[in-house]
Amino acid sequence: IVLFALGSSRALGERVARELAITLSPHEERRFEDEERKTRPLVGVRDKDVYVLSSLEGEAGDSGADKLLRLLFFIGALRDAGAARITAVTPYLCYARKDRRTKPLDPVATRYVAQLLEAIGADRIVTIDAHNVAAFENAFRIEAVALDAQALLARYFAHRLGAEPAAVVSPDLGGEKRAELFRQRLETMLAHPVAKGFMDKHRSMGEIAGEIFAGDVAGRAVVILDDLISSGGTMARAARACRANGATRIFLAATHGLFARDADSALREAPIEEIVVTDTVAPSEAVALRLRGRLVTL
Ligand code: R5P
Repeated sequence: IVLFALGSSRALGERVARELAITLSPHEERRFEDEERKTRPLVGVRDKDVYVLSSLEGEAGDSGADKLLRLLFFIGALRDAGAARITAVTPYLCYARKDRRTKPLDPVATRYVAQLLEAIGADRIVTIDAHNVAAFENAFRIEAVALDAQALLARYFAHRLGAEPAAVVSPDLGGEKRAELFRQRLETMLAHPVAKGFMDKHRSMGEIAGEIFAGDVAGRAVVILDDLISSGGTMARAARACRANGATRIFLAATHGLFARDADSALREAPIEEIVVTDTVAPSEAVALRLRGRLVTL
């Protein structure tokens, strides 16, 4: 197989290549004066089984949409060069949160991203902890593989919490199923009961609201689990609710640490002991510095 890793996914690509005992294939990325880009493979791919790794998070000066376009054009070039099969590996898939109409005339962005990838010639897509797995799978007509990071996170917390009374909390109702699966997994690993809780959340004109909290967190170390941290608002308010309800220690666990603008200040002010994310998205140096001592990347 041939593996390319584009842009900020290079370090992750190198780790994946090491695991597979292969070498990352070289490619060229050029940026022109007008901000147009050219990304091309530097090895032949005719009749090859090709994987292109590119996490599609937005970062300063490089939006998720820019990265998506570069991935699309790279796949187009691979298709033109005669690749036998092309798998797009997007550990974090942009626009996966807009997977349905919530207002009349809303775009269904996840489906349009799927149509673009299919039209340019991707044969398969792999992602990790899609915002909504069913919606992700339904959006694609090509094979869509949804992986999750639950085992990795559960192993970490099983070790971290040991015999301590524990609870797993979902910071919104949409994530309740994900949190419950995680709770069960953690309970099996810890071999003692793990309580659960959840928080009401709705957004109105971009503002997060909803104060109802349910769950048994008093006297327990709590893991608040979500698919991603963007502004940090969802996690920060859930952490405050857990503390108000008597949680002893509060940990955040999320697959994708996007840490959008000001997320670190929202999180720094909340009663959080540790923020645990995976390496689907490389935290910027600035965020890592500002959250130092509290940020763990698995
Ligand atoms: C939304 O439902 C997601 O699962 C996350 O809860 C949300 O996107 C987190 O965003 P933020 O960190 O901006 O509150």
